[in-house]
Amino acid sequence: MKSQWVKNLRPGTEVASYFGITNLNIGKTKNGAKFLKVQLGDRTGTVEGRVWDSALAEDLYRTLSLGDIVIVQGMVTEFNGLQVNLETCTKVSKEHVELNDFRPCTDKDIPAMLKEFRLQLEKVTSPPLRSLLDSIFNPDFLDGFSRATAARTIHHAYGGGLLEHTLEVIIYCSQICELQGEAMDSDLLITGAALHDIGKLWEYDQECLSFNLTEDGRLLGGHVILGYDFLRREIAQVDDFPEKLARQLLHMILSHHGLKEWGAVEEPHTVEAVALHYADLMSARVNQVSRLVNSHQGSEHWTSFDRYLGRCLYVPEKAKKQRSS
Ligand SMILES: [Fe+2]
Ligand SMILES: [Fe+2]
Repeated sequence: MKSQWVKNLRPGTEVASYFGITNLNIGKTKNGAKFLKVQLGDRTGTVEGRVWDSALAEDLYRTLSLGDIVIVQGMVTEFNGLQVNLETCTKVSKEHVELNDFRPCTDKDIPAMLKEFRLQLEKVTSPPLRSLLDSIFNPDFLDGFSRATAARTIHHAYGGGLLEHTLEVIIYCSQICELQGEAMDSDLLITGAALHDIGKLWEYDQECLSFNLTEDGRLLGGHVILGYDFLRREIAQVDDFPEKLARQLLHMILSHHGLKEWGAVEEPHTVEAVALHYADLMSARVNQVSRLVNSHQGSEHWTSFDRYLGRCLYVPEKAKKQRSS
């Protein structure tokens, strides 16, 4: 569907393609004529667009909304950076659109990650956990899960991020199982890892381009509680699911953030819950830091101060070269 990507636009390029609307405003020229300022985006970046015909600009401002997908025609010019002068801008249905083409998306191959995710889950042999995983991760569910984000900011905050993060946590957990042997219930840990952030499917609006928080996400305790609630209902559907196993698995969901000030309902009280918490933290932090380092612009070897981490990060030559290539 997409024929042109933001990252490939240059002055003089004729544009005829689909984009998402990431910002929309009316401006006024020095002569008082109204024009439309529209930010167009896709998975490769954003570019400013302008509609100079004031009647069309006002009409579009009334009828378009943030998050709409539009097909545009226009010409790229250079004015304080790239700008597309738009002749047409028409809203299209999202029905047959791959949303991840229009918002930040994982660099990794989603079908390959999904294949690996399935292989990892096949290691779980305990009958009740096997039944639970089979009934949750059906093809339809996996389709939505594989496109979803893990966050709005901080870590894995892009389409496919939930699958990428969950897979990383599963792989860290299976390494912990290998190292710890029988000290760890590997079926329980892998199942907990696969399900630990499942509530994010309902915490964020996975169908919008900016992954806004949903009302359930804002009002019902975020993904920890939404995931716990979902899992309780799913466990109830599995015949004879052992009560003690259910309690341990649900505890892993409630405690995976580790500390109450980090959003955990309980601190981890089992060896599998402790392992899951650290695997989760490892995946989140490594992703957060590498995204900050790799998105750093400018000639300095240090990023600006990151409030969340409480420090600046060092950007070695290798990362700088990778970005400029
Ligand atoms: Fe989480
Ligand atoms: Fe997580």
